[in-house]
Amino acid sequence: MDHFLYRDGILHAEDVPLPEIAAEVGTPFYCYSTATLTRHYRLFEEALSGLDHMVCYSVKSLSNQAILRTLAGLGAGMDVVSGGEYRRALAAGVRGEKIVFSGVGKTREEMGFALAHGIRQFNVESDAELQSLSEVASTMGKTAPITLRVNPDVDAKTHEKIATGRKEDKFGIPISRAPEIYAQATRLPGIEVVGVDVHIGSQLTDLAPFEAAFTKIADLTRSLRADGHDIRRVDLGGGLGIPYTTSNETPPLPLDYGAMIHRVFGGLDIEVEIEPGRLIAGNAGILVAQVIYLKQGEGRDFLILDAAMNDLIRPAMYGAHHDIVPVIEAPAAIDQRPVDIVGPVCESGDTFAKQRPMPPLAAGDLVAFRSAGAYGAVMSSEYNTRPMIPEVLVHEDQYAVIRPRPSFDEIINRDKLPNWL
Ligand code: LLP
Repeated sequence: MDHFLYRDGILHAEDVPLPEIAAEVGTPFYCYSTATLTRHYRLFEEALSGLDHMVCYSVKSLSNQAILRTLAGLGAGMDVVSGGEYRRALAAGVRGEKIVFSGVGKTREEMGFALAHGIRQFNVESDAELQSLSEVASTMGKTAPITLRVNPDVDAKTHEKIATGRKEDKFGIPISRAPEIYAQATRLPGIEVVGVDVHIGSQLTDLAPFEAAFTKIADLTRSLRADGHDIRRVDLGGGLGIPYTTSNETPPLPLDYGAMIHRVFGGLDIEVEIEPGRLIAGNAGILVAQVIYLKQGEGRDFLILDAAMNDLIRPAMYGAHHDIVPVIEAPAAIDQRPVDIVGPVCESGDTFAKQRPMPPLAAGDLVAFRSAGAYGAVMSSEYNTRPMIPEVLVHEDQYAVIRPRPSFDEIINRDKLPNWL
């Protein structure tokens, strides 16, 4: 459920009509709903209640500081995957002790910065990384709390590009090598083992792969404890999928996911951490764009928008589906006609939808891409020297621009000409 609904035929974000925001900030823009973010965060809190737990929001999915502060205010910890995200979380007011640091290639600089400013744990992904972290921490006279991210060799049955838990994927330590690397970790200076970590992929629409992976992690926890390791925390990653269409998708609910976690870990007397991103941010955001032109091609019509693949790359990159709806509601009885919905970028890949049934639209009309909160703004670029689009956060009847559209001067003046030109 989200808070982007038609009222009197006009799409609203909570209590704000979207045409009002469009008139002030121009199109295209991202728009997020505080009530939806809050609701989704609380679903996870509820799903894990009764367990010692922490919900660490996956910053990569939508990283604007206003979003981080909103979630931190509800009690969320943060999961970051770069020094930049770590700094963003700090800037948003999150204490280092509530930040977990994931990622397959942390640099020594990133490790040092996080150790200096506080860290809940590093999720270490290789023996080489463990060695570096030990050196950095002991040089600083610090102790780095760690989990080892284990690769359980489970197929998440999701898009090829976002499955991360099979043995051929670059992530984590093979589960067969875990006992050996845990033993190594306890011998290293500056390292304190606190738990086990796993993340098998994103946009999972079935609980079975999660349960298969988590069961392996629970078994590993028992055997590591039997070997004398103080495994007091499991980090189960993120990955719970969301419906991208209102009609036919029914991914598992956070409550069912939570019940399964209770089943697998309930008897272990262990703290459970999760790192959801998409389920919190995905349906809390939309992308609003304007129709620039209609064009009749050979046997097909094109709807040309002012948003493009640089603003929302998911359709081009993963063949992802986003529902696209008119901001002014079409009468229910109206004839829908198939159109290709495209952006102005000079590549055929700049296509959001092919032969999508749409009500009649004219130049100047506004449309909204649903489910664009996660991996939308954060994956955008300035390709074609198109300014990154503004982000707006709505809270009931208020809204604020939380990232303005940069001017062309700001973009162009970042280039520096060498002195020989
Ligand atoms: N934890 C780790 C270690 C991750 O790598 C990820 C996402 C998450 C948590 C959050 O997963 P979520 O709950 O959002 O599924 N750009 C792609 C998705 C990439 C996901 C990468 N890792 C997309 O647009 O679908």
